[in-house]
Amino acid sequence: MKSQSLPDFPWDELKPFSKIAQTSGFDFVDLSQGTPVDATPDFIQSAVSKKLNAPGYPLTAGSSELVETLRKFAQEILGVKGEFDVLPIIGSKEFIAWLPSVLESKNVLYPRISYPTYLVGAKIAGSNAIAVDSEPSSWPVADLAWLNSPANPTGEVLSDQVLLNAINWARKNNAVLASDECYLHFGGKKSILELANGNNENIIAVHSLSKSSNMAGYRAAFVVGDANLIAEIRQVRKHAGMMVPTIVQTAMVAALSNFAHVKNQAAIYEMRRKKLLSVLIAAGFIIEHSEAAIYIWCKHSADNLKEDLKIVEWFAKKGVLVTPGRFYGASEFIRIALTATDNQIDQVVERIKS
Ligand SMILES: Cc1ncc(COP(=O)(O)O)c(C=O)c1O
Repeated sequence: MKSQSLPDFPWDELKPFSKIAQTSGFDFVDLSQGTPVDATPDFIQSAVSKKLNAPGYPLTAGSSELVETLRKFAQEILGVKGEFDVLPIIGSKEFIAWLPSVLESKNVLYPRISYPTYLVGAKIAGSNAIAVDSEPSSWPVADLAWLNSPANPTGEVLSDQVLLNAINWARKNNAVLASDECYLHFGGKKSILELANGNNENIIAVHSLSKSSNMAGYRAAFVVGDANLIAEIRQVRKHAGMMVPTIVQTAMVAALSNFAHVKNQAAIYEMRRKKLLSVLIAAGFIIEHSEAAIYIWCKHSADNLKEDLKIVEWFAKKGVLVTPGRFYGASEFIRIALTATDNQIDQVVERIKS
């Protein structure tokens, strides 16, 4: 069975800590999931509510209105130049999980400490999955490599030079470079496609509206990049029935036509990050990266808190659930998601102080 070749789904390991947190006497605050809690902006909800009639099948390629919106967004916001194409997808997790299968990739590189679906996608495809460090000069030969900047779980932002080295690696190896940019607008720098500077061959960027527009429940995302590669992916998706629902396409058009709300959301996360960082440092935590995305990645200086599960327990006793770093490949660290209301973050700040 395919599921037996996949890594263990780790979230069950958190259940005992969730119980400690929920019976701690404090109001429970879940900073483990990274699922948005701020509302989907009203103008997006309202655009959808006006277009609920959808008797026919949607196009895999997306409606002409959506394609036009995606192209405009790619050029104006992502800085894409040269020949390129776009394709809506059903959330970026789905795409990440299936890309190696669609491309029949034999060897897939993915960041050593990372979102687990890069590895899962390689396993589903039966590819050889190889964990690599962020500097591409040490990467082995492969036919697909994943980048994720700003990163989950570390909040690390790769420098332009590292991204350019990744582009050079892809060109030298005639390999596909897939850049997961779902947190780009939350403290990131440039899209890989801006750095590709009009030569988009073998390069794609994956974008998601889940976090940037608080639309995780809609399952709305898109890819942009090499036109030939996207044509190939679109062709496979047409056969596989992976169409984005019509009403979600409507919501995407609305969301991507208004970038101001994304900037507002970025400012909200930054405020939450600032509040937590200062008390964490004062409480003896050592912060690594954590400059962007929606996460704080840290460990503790005390001998009795050297292991992630010990720190998870420390938080659980304060009614707060955080994620052990072992879920991502580093068991001294924990990941704190900034996805709680301002009021809950203020409560967490007070509990860490005490
Ligand atoms: C790095 C990264 N990529 C992709 C995803 C998937 O997002 P979605 O499927 O909601 O677009 C996540 C979700 O947390 C993520 O952290």
